[in-house]
Amino acid sequence: MATPHYLMTDPAHFEVCYQINPWMDPAVWQADAGARARAAAASAELRQAIETAGGVVEMIPAEAGLPDLVFPANAATVLDGRALMARFAHPERRGEEAPFLAAFQALRDRGVLREVAELPPGVVHEGAGDALWDAARGWFWGGHGQRSTLAGLEAHADFFGQEVVALELATPHFYHLDTCMRPLDGGHILYYPPAFTDQALRTLRDRVAPDLLIEADKAAAEALCVNAVNLGETVIMAKAPPSLRAALEARGYRLVEVDLSPFIMSGGAAFCMSLRLDLTSQPHAALAAAE
Ligand code: ARG
Repeated sequence: MATPHYLMTDPAHFEVCYQINPWMDPAVWQADAGARARAAAASAELRQAIETAGGVVEMIPAEAGLPDLVFPANAATVLDGRALMARFAHPERRGEEAPFLAAFQALRDRGVLREVAELPPGVVHEGAGDALWDAARGWFWGGHGQRSTLAGLEAHADFFGQEVVALELATPHFYHLDTCMRPLDGGHILYYPPAFTDQALRTLRDRVAPDLLIEADKAAAEALCVNAVNLGETVIMAKAPPSLRAALEARGYRLVEVDLSPFIMSGGAAFCMSLRLDLTSQPHAALAAAE
């Protein structure tokens, strides 16, 4: 397998200074004097965990006034070396679009990516957090209803030429699909049922065999553990309740926990702090053999 390649952002300007989801409270951030230092340490620890698991991490620079630039999974969706840049729902994050575009164009110029494209005018979609590539099944799971739009999912299907299975999100707490669902390399799907509409749950359960579904409980979901990085059998996530550790270990995964509490104050964790740049639509040899 090629070396897994990730993008992260320097957290130097990370803070919680506006509120665009229920996790964010600028007053709580302000009152926590050590949060900035803990954020720097947490980001470094996540990077180290990804590298220890065999990945390489590219860093893009921080920018003052753009605290959520630390969540590059929201910058774009990437498959087969082709990036489709996000367009944000909230004005607070639109300022990130230009620096992310410049960073992705630089990656293309270096040959890390081969194409960087933009969504059709006016179409809102917030990137890989609402377009989860399911390597075991060969389609995208597409979140909509909170941030990303159905038009954004259609634009993904057109651009990537892949099926996008729409899943409507039911609550502002779980506003991106990556906060409540994670397809894992072994074909399992970790998910938090209360985050989905009834129709979305039917779609998910129609498409995935029951023994491959792993339900996160409320404690795991509220610790943003579903928002995980997965390299083969290694799953890297925020501090997890023992029940989730046991559920993953029973399926053969190895859990690495990182204290991501400063980023959880913004509604983000391991998955959205990193963006996988080398996903391919070609079935992974190990996965294909397991089918
Ligand atoms: N504060 C950010 C926002 O609300 C957090 C984004 C986290 N990203 C994610 N995919 N869950 O947009």
